[in-house]
Amino acid sequence: MRLLVCGGAGFIGSTFVRQRLREHGDAVTVLDKLTYAGREENLQDVRDEPGYAFVRGAIEDRDAVAEAIATARAEAIVNFAAETHVDRSIADPDAFVTTHALGTHVLLEAARAHGLRYVQVSTDEVYGSIEHGTFTEDSPLAPSSPYSATKAGADLLVQSYFHTYSLPAVICRGSNNYGPYQYPEKLIPLMVLNAMHGDSLPVYGDGMQVRNWIHSTDFAAAIGCVLEQGLAGQVYNAGGPDEEPNIEVIRRIIELTGAAESQIEHVTDRPGHDVRYSLSSEKVRALGWEPRVRFDEGLARTVAWYRENAWWWEPIRSGSYRDYYERQYGRSLRD
Ligand code: NAD
Ligand code: DAU
Repeated sequence: MRLLVCGGAGFIGSTFVRQRLREHGDAVTVLDKLTYAGREENLQDVRDEPGYAFVRGAIEDRDAVAEAIATARAEAIVNFAAETHVDRSIADPDAFVTTHALGTHVLLEAARAHGLRYVQVSTDEVYGSIEHGTFTEDSPLAPSSPYSATKAGADLLVQSYFHTYSLPAVICRGSNNYGPYQYPEKLIPLMVLNAMHGDSLPVYGDGMQVRNWIHSTDFAAAIGCVLEQGLAGQVYNAGGPDEEPNIEVIRRIIELTGAAESQIEHVTDRPGHDVRYSLSSEKVRALGWEPRVRFDEGLARTVAWYRENAWWWEPIRSGSYRDYYERQYGRSLRD
């Protein structure tokens, strides 16, 4: 297939690009704005693969999208492009609205004009929080944060293009991803790097919130499966095999890095913090997908990757990330 992958320079997008080029023989053009979270370094090992091309631009920019579709001679669009951090959406939601609402709209219009298949990469957070049981694709949407609300809005727009224009569009909603190349604002890479550096490990509230962890290679494979076999107009959930409370994840990171329990600091809780996510993946499993990486093994491999790839995270930790970290945690950690 000839794919246009939007947001392909991010954490999961770059994993997907690697899989499609190397394991499926696809041609892949990446369209990415290269925000603070998007990095060409994430794709440096595929730069010379046959069929790979990169266009820098925003999905809300019609000209950039047209250029990328022409470069790709695209048969399908897979959209990963997003602002992805809940805490940043609480501090400043503007970019979330622009990218998720306007950006998705521009991509859908382009897909419609060119008759392209369309895959929207979405999140379990659109269902909100669930204390008991598991979300299915029929669960109502009840997003809690500006991040998840704008992702839910994008999903509804995608579904409207299927119903109104018969656009062959599918949605794949994933649970919490972890693995190599994840920007260290998210729980696991933040805790791994802080643990390795002897820094505080800032736990929001009591740390008993539960997340359903999926390795990024498993989620990327689920998206590939939905791209190839998903029925137009349908939603497919892809959840990981293991659910863990945050504090338990942090304790395992402490064991794996040789850090000290005393590094844990309970800080001010996230406003509107979702208590638990849990996804049923029966529908995508019926297409032949299953997660391969259990959390214990995946976490150990992820910690090893961060230990061995300082070239990747050193420029992040010494750059504008420091300002973000101070804004997000400074006062809480000093109090
Ligand atoms: P990320 O933050 O690592 O990467 C996002 C990418 O999108 C970056 O390369 C960034 O430069 C690009 N981007 C942002 N705004 C853009 C715009 N306007 N135009 C073009 N490019 C833009 O994110 P990720 O964790 O890899 O998430 C990828 C997708 O998967 C997102 O849609 C996210 O909502 C979804 N998702 C993430 C998780 C998770 O746990 N990380 C779980 C489920 C779903
Ligand atoms: O569920 C899928 C979603 O998972 C994706 O759609 C989002 O893009 C992705 O960011 C992620 O959202 P979360 O908010 O669950 O991930 P985050 O890594 O920010 O936080 C995971 C949990 O850890 C959450 O309960 C908040 C807590 N946390 C997080 C950070 C960064 C802490 O206790 N301390 C922290 O410093």
